[in-house]
Amino acid sequence: MPSTERRRNGDFNDKTDTIRYAPMGWNSWNTFYDQINEELMRTTADAMVSSGLRDAGYRYLILDDCWASRERGADGGLQPDPDKFPHGMEAVAEYVHSRGLKFGLYGCCGTRTCAGYPGSFEHEFEDAARFASWGVDYLKYDNCHHPESIPSHILYRRMNLALRAAGRDIVLAACQWGLDDVHSWARSAGVQSYRSTVDIQDSWCSIERIARAQLEKQSVAGPGCYNDLDMLVVGMYGRGLNPETCIGGCTKEEYRTHFALWAMLGAPLILGCDIRALDEDTRTLLTNRDLIAIDQDAEARGCYKVDVYGQPDAFVLVRQLCGGELALGFFNFSDTQANVFLDLWDIGLPAAVGLRLRDCLSGEEQTARELICPAVPAHGCRVYRAWVKAS
Ligand code: GLA
Repeated sequence: MPSTERRRNGDFNDKTDTIRYAPMGWNSWNTFYDQINEELMRTTADAMVSSGLRDAGYRYLILDDCWASRERGADGGLQPDPDKFPHGMEAVAEYVHSRGLKFGLYGCCGTRTCAGYPGSFEHEFEDAARFASWGVDYLKYDNCHHPESIPSHILYRRMNLALRAAGRDIVLAACQWGLDDVHSWARSAGVQSYRSTVDIQDSWCSIERIARAQLEKQSVAGPGCYNDLDMLVVGMYGRGLNPETCIGGCTKEEYRTHFALWAMLGAPLILGCDIRALDEDTRTLLTNRDLIAIDQDAEARGCYKVDVYGQPDAFVLVRQLCGGELALGFFNFSDTQANVFLDLWDIGLPAAVGLRLRDCLSGEEQTARELICPAVPAHGCRVYRAWVKAS
């Protein structure tokens, strides 16, 4: 079965394709902040496997800022903090690889990282070679402390070339916060994803702000370079050591909407909760095959937004998927339940042609003609996979 067909059926395990999909994985920052070490990486790698997350498609285990020593080593190279990683980074990478996962690390294009550790400015080629020698598969590359006279796209182009010269297949994830019109140059700079907003926080208000900022910027989407809406806060419920992220938490409904929005927008799905302590609702949501299939669709098209007359806080996102399928997301950002109305004429369907629908969250099937109008809870959503039904 060709790979695109397998993915439509919920098998996200084949990563041998030449098309690169929106990365899926886990990152240490949201929950663990600077409290990271090799034990955390080992136990998280184990949890990725035992929870079923790996087999649902989550592959990258990414160590964020604060992994390095405060200064470069005697040879000028970056070195891991010996207290946190006494056996070095190769040992971490080896363990992660042994669990069938890929290893991601954080770096920064400036002189210092955002938390004040050494950055890669003017060390790009040697650092990339070191990352490759450690077995790194993904580099989250941040934007702090870079000289103001150098436009950041030059520094991202530079790290792209350095990674490619290092001779290992390493994903470059630009963490550029949406500055300097990053949507317009990310793809040509060779990056596979670009952060387009400020840091996420574990609150509905933050999720809503990030989504609203990106809804109209979908026209540049396509395979190989993805708009990164930041790491997911699903399942955090206000817990964690990061004082900037952990500010209260969301409801189950809001986490569902958050995950569905990221999927509809085709964003990287990088988990930020402690996956060693997943509750069953969170695990079920994060492994939802239909939502992941929408996110990981091989055509990677952007979606368009259909406004709902008289309801400024409701909208429908429509995404063309491969194989003739559509994804329809009905969102209600208001504080009360609403019936969110879509006239199928607006998506191009004449009255004679209907749709077969499958609700991604409940699994229920139905058919529709002319209009769809589900009841959507406050801060909630309904997402369907849909197939045109001519007869
Ligand atoms: C920036 C990034 C965050 C995180 C921190 C680490 O704020 O946007 O995602 O990587 O730096 O210091």
